[in-house]
Amino acid sequence: MGIQPVIKIENLKKVYKLGTERVNALAGVSVEIYKGEICFLVGTSGSGKSTLLNMIAGLEKPTSGTVIMNGTHIEKLSERKLAVFRQKNLGFVFQSYNLLPTMNAVENAAMPLMFSGVKPSVREKAAKKMLQAVGLEKRMRHRPTQMSGGQQQRVAIARAFVSNPPIILADEPTGNLDSATTIEVMNMIVDLVRKNGQTLIVVTHEPELAVFGDRVLHIKDGKVERVEINENPVRYMPVPEVKETM
Ligand SMILES: Nc1ncnc2c1ncn2[C@@H]1O[C@H](COP(=O)(O)OP(=O)(O)OP(=O)(O)O)[C@@H](O)[C@H]1O
Ligand SMILES: [Mg+2]
Repeated sequence: MGIQPVIKIENLKKVYKLGTERVNALAGVSVEIYKGEICFLVGTSGSGKSTLLNMIAGLEKPTSGTVIMNGTHIEKLSERKLAVFRQKNLGFVFQSYNLLPTMNAVENAAMPLMFSGVKPSVREKAAKKMLQAVGLEKRMRHRPTQMSGGQQQRVAIARAFVSNPPIILADEPTGNLDSATTIEVMNMIVDLVRKNGQTLIVVTHEPELAVFGDRVLHIKDGKVERVEINENPVRYMPVPEVKETM
């Protein structure tokens, strides 16, 4: 873990107004995320984990406070500048994969490069290389509906990493997967991040996965309640053998 903060969050607040009701989804979060670290966000449902990740991603504007990423105040950027900033700096993995149903694995994985104007042959080559890295060399031409959940999530991982962004954000990346596939997918994400020296922020419901992290931020009622430092983060977790039940 380096000392240099890549993300600096200061007194971040998000209030959702629903009619007369106000929800303090984030109630003043201040935290620094360091270059090359793996940071987990854990906490009960509704504690504000996704809201915090979405603010870091620039997907939503905060009510107040700042998010400085690589020196840029992202809460001040226009939608257009934000889109460019995201392309250059961020990769995303979501719980629900968010793949395009009409595109095959290669086309889905190549998507981020399309927006940054990389030519088709180079895009395809990069996407194939990433799909190989996540063990999908035999599924290159399959569309999302023709793949299992774990395979779809691996396509989404290939897509997140294809442009080699310095920061990867993941919201419950294993939320829809069984326990063996969960460990497989986490091993893959962690391996790629460590190899590339990227920074990873990952939201999870499963506290046992936090052993992969350098730090664990415990979120409660829209605040960082506690920060746990892990001196010896796990780099690879053995995958349990799946027993046939039928
Ligand atoms: N668009 C919205 N409008 C109104 N309230 C919202 C909105 N998004 C989130 N909230 C509220 O903000 C709070 C934090 O939500 P958030 O999605 O960040 O929780 P979370 O920690 O990610 O929960 P989970 O583990 O269930 O995904 C919740 O009380 C939620 O109801
Ligand atoms: Mg959430």
